[in-house]
Amino acid sequence: MRRMRVADLEQVIALAASLKDAPRWQRDAYVLALDRGATPQRIALVAEDPMTGTVKGFAAACVLSPEAELESIAVSAAEQRRGIGRKLLLAMAEELRVAGVREVLLEVRSSNQRALGFYRSLGWSETGRRPRYYADPEEDAVLMSLKLE
Ligand SMILES: CC(C)(COP(=O)(O)OP(=O)(O)OC[C@H]1O[C@@H](n2cnc3c(N)ncnc32)[C@H](O)[C@@H]1OP(=O)(O)O)[C@@H](O)C(=O)NCCC(=O)NCCS
Repeated sequence: MRRMRVADLEQVIALAASLKDAPRWQRDAYVLALDRGATPQRIALVAEDPMTGTVKGFAAACVLSPEAELESIAVSAAEQRRGIGRKLLLAMAEELRVAGVREVLLEVRSSNQRALGFYRSLGWSETGRRPRYYADPEEDAVLMSLKLE
């Protein structure tokens, strides 16, 4: 697990594009997320295979201390269910804690059972719903929260 760099963006964008449920950010949005001087501050991490340099997963969060929003997390299809998402989330939680964050929030499509199961297993709780929040297809957002000690 390490901070995302501009040199990772081709792999990160290709990974996101390969997954139905991953957010599709434009390159500019990632570049902004990597700008340490930008407001609000963002933290973006990648899980990299140290042998090959392959990016297996990534996560991005927006810091609004004492809260943060987990904006995206994704693991390549071939590497899912091997604990990489969990490691990314633990590394992100630690970075956010150091940045003064006490609670992390997120929204997820109500049909994304895989992500819901993932977040629940890592201690996130459901705090509410936003009806018809998403378009194409129209769908509710499930709101979730994780308190950081
Ligand atoms: C959600 C996602 C990031 C999880 O990453 P992952 O590396 O596969 O997750 P992990 O292997 O670390 O799983 C940790 C735990 O989460 C739970 N979990 C993971 N995948 C799950 C699934 N498909 N169904 C139910 N629970 C699941 C399990 O409890 C798992 O522990 P276990 O394998 O010991 O049982 C990955 O599935 C993904 O990239 N999905 C597509 C993109 C997406 O939906 N992102 C979220 C919205 S932005």
